[in-house]
Amino acid sequence: GDDILGVAHEWDIELEGACEGSIACSTCHVILPPEHYDALEEPGDDENDMLDLAFGLTDTSRLGCQVH
Ligand code: FES
Repeated sequence: GDDILGVAHEWDIELEGACEGSIACSTCHVILPPEHYDALEEPGDDENDMLDLAFGLTDTSRLGCQVH
């Protein structure tokens, strides 16, 4: 894929994605630089629900698998 998760895997970066992008886990939690975060569409309700469960949630947290 060409989302952050896919790119990370292509480059052998450890980024877990237990549910493979179906917004059923929070293992792909990433913390983005604010300028990158602001350039993205707002997270959807499903993503926000999962982010609430993510460890170390920040104001610029996203699910890596939902960031394209
Ligand atoms: Fe599970 Fe992203 S891989 S929500």
